[in-house]
Amino acid sequence: MSELPSDLARVVLSAETIHARVCEIADQLSKDYADKDGLYIIGILKGAFIFLADLTRQLTLPHVVDFMAVSSYGKTDTFSGAVRIIMDLREPIEGRHVLIVEDIVDTGHTLSYLYRTLKGRKPASLNACVLVQKERDSLEVPIHYLGFKIPDVWVVGYGLDFADAYRTLPYIAELKREEG
Ligand code: IMP
Repeated sequence: MSELPSDLARVVLSAETIHARVCEIADQLSKDYADKDGLYIIGILKGAFIFLADLTRQLTLPHVVDFMAVSSYGKTDTFSGAVRIIMDLREPIEGRHVLIVEDIVDTGHTLSYLYRTLKGRKPASLNACVLVQKERDSLEVPIHYLGFKIPDVWVVGYGLDFADAYRTLPYIAELKREEG
């Protein structure tokens, strides 16, 4: 692998490790939803776009991809749990089997908000597929398909960013902490 950018401390998950796990999750989803009449997949922008693209291309069952964009109120206020919809779905999800695809669960506020909001729209089922979850105290939110648990550090790459940088790195790496 070429040298890490100087702002990054170490690779937490290599591209190969991620790829192998994404294939496993796609296999599991393909089995679990095989008897359903298609799957409605909601990718949460921006962070889930790479995970979603890789995951859905491995699925062997009929599915539709849609997107939502959500945002916490301000970077300094991330942990207050205030989340808002910036871009909503194109279609109603009533009666459909819905899977939320999210990049990372940190405090759990975003996923918790998504459950509350989407449940109100009466899907036939609502599950979540998350690539990484930080090992920290967080809200109790069900994650039906989880890629990896990682330490409680800021990570970037494979869709994850720091101030919109590093999203397209093929691996997930820990960002160096600012000194002082
Ligand atoms: P929550 O705290 O679980 O609600 O996560 C809020 C959002 O913060 C996530 O959906 C990510 O967009 C972002 N986030 C949390 N931790 C990280 C990280 O380590 N790297 C990049 N984005 C993160």
